Amino acid sequence: MNGQEHGGHRTTVKVKRDAEVVSYDVWVRPGMLDDAGAMIGSACPADRYAIIADTQVAELYGERTLAALEAEGLKGALLKFPAGEWNKTRESWSELGDGMLRAGFGRDAAVIVLGGGVAGDLGGFVAATFMRGVPLIQIPTTLLAMLDSSVGGMTGVDTPAGKNLVGAFHQPALVLADPAVLTTLPAPQFASGLAEAFKHGLILDAAYFESIADGLEDLFARDPERLSDLIARSVEIKAEVMSRDEWEGGYRRVLNFGHTLASAQEAISGYAWLHGEAVAAGMALEAAIGEAAGVTRPGVSVRVREVLEAARLPVALDQDADPTRFFEALERAGKREGGQVRYTLLVDIGLVAGSDEGSWTHPVPEELVRAVLFDKGR
Ligand SMILES: NC(=O)c1ccc[n+]([C@@H]2O[C@H](COP(=O)([O-])OP(=O)(O)OC[C@H]3O[C@@H](n4cnc5c(N)ncnc54)[C@H](O)[C@@H]3O)[C@@H](O)[C@H]2O)c1
Repeated sequence: MNGQEHGGHRTTVKVKRDAEVVSYDVWVRPGMLDDAGAMIGSACPADRYAIIADTQVAELYGERTLAALEAEGLKGALLKFPAGEWNKTRESWSELGDGMLRAGFGRDAAVIVLGGGVAGDLGGFVAATFMRGVPLIQIPTTLLAMLDSSVGGMTGVDTPAGKNLVGAFHQPALVLADPAVLTTLPAPQFASGLAEAFKHGLILDAAYFESIADGLEDLFARDPERLSDLIARSVEIKAEVMSRDEWEGGYRRVLNFGHTLASAQEAISGYAWLHGEAVAAGMALEAAIGEAAGVTRPGVSVRVREVLEAARLPVALDQDADPTRFFEALERAGKREGGQVRYTLLVDIGLVAGSDEGSWTHPVPEELVRAVLFDKGR
């Protein structure tokens, strides 16, 4: 059931796993962090809660989260890891798991992830594996995590060979998003989260895409009500996609729009580009590739580019990106199948192109991609 209750938005995510349907609620409400204890206690009872947060988020919101648990008589302990994508590693995973063991957590524990997508992926993987899996509660604190990464159950870590290559599917039992905490989020991180919201509009809801474009001023002012509406709609779209396909093999690939090129751009930048920045450039360029391939309606890429630029997001690769290194990175990112890289392409804003063989990605010749990425205006 979706809707507004108790002054907040609630979206119930349902995912099919074999014959079973897993379902959990995603709540969005400004101020929710301080009364999170009651919702956690009823939706996910546990003997003790391990709160996993990076050092920066722990400093900002760790004590408030502990206090919210204590107010309901729940026991919690804060476990920290150093902030940054480069710490989303197996080493951090083992330190956090060992920390939980040292602190005496057992099978009756639950993990609360407090933070952005890095904490969500890393802490989620700890929850998926600790004692062969304990329940997970997500309290996302970046816009990207609220409207995207905290929902969907993808957890994991990066390896020297690439991002997110070791991990597990582990759906949360509850997601609590408090847009009021976004007031402390740095501007580039905020814009990076908006990129994923634009993606949700581009793949499934043209009116949503245009409403984000029209409301940028309020959003950048971090208006909590406007942000609540944004997060709730994005979560609904992600939930809709997931309800058709938990495993990434099929329809869920529509969520990869912009991500094929983004993964290569992120890698060649040494992860200096934020994920959402790379996704924005990826979406602008994949829209252009779709047009050049005759799949996307002409004019879509111009609109996508102008909206993303208005949101202070990049729409092209690094000026000095080397084509050879770029295509090598694309190959390493594992996006190549049957000799050609496959892309999620749009028919139009709000509509993804299905392909003849019933999949949701399209092989595009490298020469065409090269022409769009490197031959124009250079
Ligand atoms: N699992 C998924 O489905 C999924 C989807 C998209 C992205 N991701 C992953 O998410 C990660 C990126 O997530 P991210 O952009 O949230 O990065 P992040 O978790 O590193 O957070 C960004 C920075 O913001 C800080 N921060 C977080 N919340 C804050 C707040 N409220 N106020 C001030 N500072 C705050 C953090 O300490 C960090 O330094 C990537 O690793 C990406 O692969 C996962």
